[in-house]
Amino acid sequence: MYFARMIRVLFVCLGNICRSPLAEGVFNQLLAQKKLDHLFLVDSAGTASYHTGKLPDERSRRVAKQNGFELTHKARTFTANDFEQFDFIVVMDKNNEYDVNKKRPVGNKTPVLLMRSFDNPQATEVPDPYYGDYADFEEVYAILERSCSRFIDSINE
Ligand code: 4NP
Repeated sequence: MYFARMIRVLFVCLGNICRSPLAEGVFNQLLAQKKLDHLFLVDSAGTASYHTGKLPDERSRRVAKQNGFELTHKARTFTANDFEQFDFIVVMDKNNEYDVNKKRPVGNKTPVLLMRSFDNPQATEVPDPYYGDYADFEEVYAILERSCSRFIDSINE
């Protein structure tokens, strides 16, 4: 008998309370709509540990709820072991990319992708909305929806 292995995707931002848990939720919702959810294992993490164990920021939870899904992820810190546990690591900005790659084990080849590269290759960052207002979270949601949809299509090709 042949068991296909799940495709494992990890979204990473700084705090793991605003962008990456929302990316995880958007990605899961799109997978369900495309009937691909049984093929993927999805998680998120932060490069900093200030918010470990917390639910996502209230504004990320609100924008998720307004788009039909709940965020229940508890923040955790990205570790070197995540390079072994995931097939794709998708980061929100260049600082995340740098911080993640600092932890790469010698010889590990797991791709680290910029989320925004699927949306607009000129705009490398999903802007950090933490010090912004609710409109910034709505903008992040729109970026994540476009980017995740194209990311799924690129894996599915
Ligand atoms: P995130 O946003 O990286 O999208 O989760 C932030 C959350 C917390 C902080 C910064 C950004 N902070 O400085 O505590």
